[in-house]
Amino acid sequence: MSQFNIAVIPGDGIGTEVIPEGIKALQAAAAQQGIELNFTHFDWSCETYHKTGRMMPEDGLEQLSRFDAIFLGAVGFPGVPDHISLWGLLLPIRRAFNQYVNLRPVRLFEGLQSPLANKKPGDIDFYVVRENVEGEYSNIGGIQYEGTEDEVVSQQSIFTRKGTDRILKYAFDLAQSRDKKHLSSATKSNGLFHSMPYWDGRVEAMAEQYPEVKVDQFHIDIFTANLVRMPEFYDVIVGSNLFGDILSDLGPACTGTIAIAPSANINPEKTFPSMFEPVHGSAPDIAGQNIANPIGTVWAAAMMMQHLGCNAMHDTIMTAIETVIRDQTALTRDMSGNASTQELGQAIVDAIQAS
Ligand code: NAD
Ligand code: IPM
Ligand code: MN
Repeated sequence: MSQFNIAVIPGDGIGTEVIPEGIKALQAAAAQQGIELNFTHFDWSCETYHKTGRMMPEDGLEQLSRFDAIFLGAVGFPGVPDHISLWGLLLPIRRAFNQYVNLRPVRLFEGLQSPLANKKPGDIDFYVVRENVEGEYSNIGGIQYEGTEDEVVSQQSIFTRKGTDRILKYAFDLAQSRDKKHLSSATKSNGLFHSMPYWDGRVEAMAEQYPEVKVDQFHIDIFTANLVRMPEFYDVIVGSNLFGDILSDLGPACTGTIAIAPSANINPEKTFPSMFEPVHGSAPDIAGQNIANPIGTVWAAAMMMQHLGCNAMHDTIMTAIETVIRDQTALTRDMSGNASTQELGQAIVDAIQAS
């Protein structure tokens, strides 16, 4: 019998509401397939910060390193500045465990209405492959002449050859494996003098090794416009940490709600645990109301099982999500329904058990 040890960090806000629904779906699917999942909960959050001055204990990363995977809700809540909470928990995990691929699938499901006119299931079906550990996300820089009229703040971006090539290789391999074999790279090489022309050059160099993959590059400004105007054009999108972040909220918004979108923070070499979470955040505006949509979290749970080699569990959970949305069994408000978080979570469990 396969057995996996999963570290669970519900985190802040609706993270604590959606994670239990993800666990219920995992348990239902695992029971069906004879897989044993052991969950260990960590209450690390902004509350921990208020109590201890840290988002996680000093040996937090060491504790997490022993698990097969990490399942996370959301980090950040009013009362702690976002850069403190995120650089105290989520971002160190991505970086310490070399989760350099952030894979974010975007799909329009049957039963959901795209806000874009005349889009049907199949028209929106692509992956955002986001560089996840370097680029614009850096704590290098600082403030000079603080408190004077000459105050200057600098914020450095870092693009290494190794870091750029490995994310591009992952994206090219993914594109190569898909029917359309189409890769679109998002940059801004007209405005950013060093990093983005460098990225474009690495794309061109790698494209030579993938003659079957059709490659294009757009500056991020027109990229966002094109994504809204013709989402069916896209297949695999690759971008830097910041551009990938932006495109992976825009993409799911075009499928009806950002709340269904999953995020897999992957260490492809499996030298460290990978981490699975919804794309969305802690949603302080709806926290505590039992109306958060748990589907992004449940889809992330499915991706976790796929990463752990349990493809049948992944497929069972995905079919349950598709069924519940298609049949409109229990949809939360963001999907124009009136079900609670728990009702939707239970509908997914029921669909798993009926399969
Ligand atoms: P957010 O994703 O938390 O919320 C944006 C909007 O989407 C809100 O109106 C919210 O109600 C809605 N929404 C989000 N998830 C939903 C769900 N599951 N069901 C229904 N509606 C949902 O983004 P934000 O407001 O920019 O950020 C809030 C906090 O979360 C900040 O502290 C931010 O730093 C943090 N954050 C964390 C993560 C993460 O942990 N991965 C991701 C994004 C934001
Ligand atoms: C995400 C989030 C994070 C990111 C923030 C909270 C640091 O927006 O996972 O998309 O930008 O990576
Ligand atoms: Mn984001």
